[in-house]
Amino acid sequence: MFKKLDILDEKDKRLRLKSKKVEFPLTQEDKKLIQHIIDELTYSQIPEYAEKYDLRPGMGLAFPQLGLLKRIIVIVHEVEEGLFDNYVFINPEIISSSEEMIAAESGEGCLSVNREVEGHVKRHARVTVTGYDEKGNQIQCRAREDLALAFQHEIDHLEGILFYDRIDPKKPFYTEQEMRLI
Ligand code: CO
Repeated sequence: MFKKLDILDEKDKRLRLKSKKVEFPLTQEDKKLIQHIIDELTYSQIPEYAEKYDLRPGMGLAFPQLGLLKRIIVIVHEVEEGLFDNYVFINPEIISSSEEMIAAESGEGCLSVNREVEGHVKRHARVTVTGYDEKGNQIQCRAREDLALAFQHEIDHLEGILFYDRIDPKKPFYTEQEMRLI
Protein backbone atom coordinates (compact mmCIF):
# COMPACT_ATOMS: atom_id res chain seq x y z
CA MET A 1 0.00 0.00 0.00
CA PHE A 2 1.29 3.41 -0.95
CA LYS A 3 1.92 5.73 1.99
CA LYS A 4 1.66 9.48 1.52
CA LEU A 5 4.63 11.69 2.33
CA ASP A 6 4.41 14.09 5.25
CA ILE A 7 4.76 17.46 3.55
CA LEU A 8 5.29 20.53 5.72
CA ASP A 9 2.74 23.31 5.58
CA GLU A 10 3.82 26.86 4.80
CA LYS A 11 3.43 27.84 8.45
CA ASP A 12 6.38 25.62 9.36
CA LYS A 13 9.47 27.76 9.88
CA ARG A 14 11.79 25.07 8.50
CA LEU A 15 10.54 26.02 5.03
CA ARG A 16 12.22 29.38 5.52
CA LEU A 17 15.70 28.00 6.20
CA LYS A 18 18.51 27.56 3.72
CA SER A 19 19.28 23.94 2.90
CA LYS A 20 22.75 22.45 3.04
CA LYS A 21 24.86 20.86 0.33
CA VAL A 22 24.64 17.09 0.10
CA GLU A 23 27.70 14.84 0.30
CA PHE A 24 28.09 11.64 -1.67
CA PRO A 25 27.41 8.78 -1.47
CA LEU A 26 23.77 9.39 -0.62
CA THR A 27 22.33 7.50 2.31
CA GLN A 28 19.94 4.62 1.63
CA GLU A 29 17.20 6.64 3.29
CA ASP A 30 17.69 9.57 0.95
CA LYS A 31 17.66 7.26 -2.07
CA LYS A 32 14.43 5.65 -0.87
CA LEU A 33 12.90 9.02 -0.21
CA ILE A 34 13.77 10.25 -3.72
CA GLN A 35 11.97 7.23 -5.19
CA HIS A 36 9.01 7.82 -2.89
CA ILE A 37 8.80 11.44 -4.05
CA ILE A 38 8.94 10.37 -7.72
CA ASP A 39 6.12 7.89 -7.11
CA GLU A 40 3.97 10.38 -5.25
CA LEU A 41 4.42 13.18 -7.79
CA THR A 42 3.67 10.75 -10.62
CA TYR A 43 0.54 9.38 -8.93
CA SER A 44 -0.60 12.89 -8.13
CA GLN A 45 -0.71 13.71 -11.84
CA ILE A 46 -2.72 10.62 -12.80
CA PRO A 47 -6.34 11.42 -11.85
CA GLU A 48 -7.24 7.83 -10.98
CA TYR A 49 -4.36 7.52 -8.49
CA ALA A 50 -4.65 11.08 -7.25
CA GLU A 51 -8.17 10.27 -6.14
CA LYS A 52 -7.32 6.85 -4.77
CA TYR A 53 -4.48 8.17 -2.61
CA ASP A 54 -5.98 11.61 -1.98
CA LEU A 55 -3.10 13.52 -3.59
CA ARG A 56 -3.10 17.10 -4.74
CA PRO A 57 -1.49 17.33 -8.20
CA GLY A 58 2.10 18.57 -8.07
CA MET A 59 5.07 18.35 -10.39
CA GLY A 60 7.88 19.14 -7.97
CA LEU A 61 9.08 18.73 -4.43
CA ALA A 62 12.20 19.81 -2.57
CA PHE A 63 13.66 18.00 0.44
CA PRO A 64 13.10 20.92 2.84
CA GLN A 65 9.37 20.41 2.30
CA LEU A 66 9.84 17.16 4.21
CA GLY A 67 11.72 18.91 6.99
CA LEU A 68 15.09 17.78 5.61
CA LEU A 69 17.39 20.69 4.93
CA LYS A 70 19.24 19.05 2.05
CA ARG A 71 19.74 20.46 -1.42
CA ILE A 72 17.75 17.85 -3.34
CA ILE A 73 14.89 18.57 -5.73
CA VAL A 74 12.64 16.24 -7.70
CA ILE A 75 10.50 17.18 -10.68
CA VAL A 76 8.11 14.86 -12.50
CA HIS A 77 7.16 16.49 -15.76
CA GLU A 78 4.29 15.18 -17.84
CA VAL A 79 5.50 15.44 -21.43
CA GLU A 80 2.38 13.93 -22.91
CA GLU A 81 -0.63 12.31 -21.35
CA GLY A 82 0.54 9.56 -19.05
CA LEU A 83 4.22 9.97 -20.02
CA PHE A 84 6.53 11.46 -17.43
CA ASP A 85 10.15 12.60 -17.33
CA ASN A 86 11.82 12.58 -13.92
CA TYR A 87 14.47 15.05 -12.85
CA VAL A 88 16.42 14.45 -9.67
CA PHE A 89 18.95 17.22 -9.05
CA ILE A 90 21.26 17.21 -6.07
CA ASN A 91 23.04 20.48 -5.21
CA PRO A 92 21.39 22.16 -8.21
CA GLU A 93 22.59 25.49 -9.51
CA ILE A 94 21.22 27.73 -12.21
CA ILE A 95 24.24 28.59 -14.34
CA SER A 96 22.47 30.66 -16.96
CA SER A 97 19.02 32.08 -17.49
CA SER A 98 17.22 33.84 -20.32
CA GLU A 99 16.58 37.52 -20.30
CA GLU A 100 13.03 36.77 -21.30
CA MET A 101 10.71 36.47 -18.34
CA ILE A 102 7.42 34.55 -18.24
CA ALA A 103 4.77 33.68 -15.70
CA ALA A 104 2.24 30.90 -15.33
CA GLU A 105 -1.05 32.48 -16.34
CA SER A 106 -3.05 30.80 -13.60
CA GLY A 107 -0.37 31.39 -10.97
CA GLU A 108 1.74 28.78 -9.22
CA GLY A 109 0.88 26.19 -6.63
CA CYS A 110 2.94 24.40 -4.05
CA LEU A 111 2.35 21.21 -2.10
CA SER A 112 3.25 23.15 1.06
CA VAL A 113 0.71 25.90 0.37
CA ASN A 114 -2.76 24.58 1.03
CA ARG A 115 -4.69 27.55 -0.25
CA GLU A 116 -5.13 29.48 -3.47
CA VAL A 117 -2.66 32.33 -3.86
CA GLU A 118 -3.46 34.58 -6.79
CA GLY A 119 -0.84 36.45 -8.75
CA HIS A 120 1.77 36.04 -11.42
CA VAL A 121 5.22 34.80 -10.43
CA LYS A 122 7.77 36.34 -12.76
CA ARG A 123 10.47 33.86 -13.75
CA HIS A 124 13.04 33.21 -16.46
CA ALA A 125 11.63 31.55 -19.59
CA ARG A 126 14.70 29.31 -19.91
CA VAL A 127 17.33 28.20 -17.43
CA THR A 128 20.34 25.91 -17.55
CA VAL A 129 20.68 23.91 -14.37
CA THR A 130 23.66 21.85 -13.28
CA GLY A 131 23.85 19.45 -10.39
CA TYR A 132 24.47 15.83 -9.54
CA ASP A 133 22.43 12.69 -9.96
CA GLU A 134 21.91 10.11 -7.21
CA LYS A 135 25.21 8.43 -8.01
CA GLY A 136 27.14 11.67 -7.83
CA ASN A 137 27.60 12.14 -11.57
CA GLN A 138 27.46 15.71 -12.75
CA ILE A 139 24.38 16.45 -14.83
CA GLN A 140 22.99 19.43 -16.70
CA CYS A 141 19.59 20.37 -18.06
CA ARG A 142 18.39 23.16 -20.27
CA ALA A 143 14.80 23.74 -19.22
CA ARG A 144 12.20 25.92 -20.84
CA GLU A 145 8.63 27.01 -20.23
CA ASP A 146 6.78 25.10 -17.49
CA LEU A 147 9.82 22.93 -16.74
CA ALA A 148 11.93 26.08 -16.30
CA LEU A 149 9.34 27.46 -13.89
CA ALA A 150 9.41 24.21 -11.93
CA PHE A 151 13.21 24.26 -11.58
CA GLN A 152 13.16 27.86 -10.36
CA HIS A 153 10.32 27.13 -7.94
CA GLU A 154 12.06 24.08 -6.45
CA ILE A 155 15.50 25.70 -6.22
CA ASP A 156 13.84 28.60 -4.41
CA HIS A 157 12.75 26.12 -1.72
CA LEU A 158 16.42 25.37 -1.02
CA GLU A 159 16.86 29.05 -0.16
CA GLY A 160 13.76 29.23 2.00
CA ILE A 161 11.79 31.13 -0.63
CA LEU A 162 8.12 30.40 -1.35
CA PHE A 163 6.55 31.28 -4.70
CA TYR A 164 4.34 34.02 -3.35
CA ASP A 165 7.38 35.92 -2.06
CA ARG A 166 7.92 36.74 -5.73
CA ILE A 167 4.44 38.13 -6.36
CA ASP A 168 4.63 41.89 -6.41
CA PRO A 169 1.99 43.09 -3.93
CA LYS A 170 1.74 46.39 -5.79
CA LYS A 171 1.21 44.63 -9.10
CA PRO A 172 0.21 41.00 -8.69
CA PHE A 173 -0.96 40.54 -12.28
CA TYR A 174 0.60 41.28 -15.65
CA THR A 175 -1.15 41.75 -18.96
CA GLU A 176 -0.17 39.80 -22.07
CA GLN A 177 1.56 42.95 -23.28
CA GLU A 178 3.72 43.18 -20.18
CA MET A 179 4.65 39.53 -19.81
CA ARG A 180 4.39 36.33 -21.77
CA LEU A 181 1.90 34.24 -19.81
CA ILE A 182 2.03 30.49 -20.30
CO1 CO B 1 6.71 24.37 -3.76
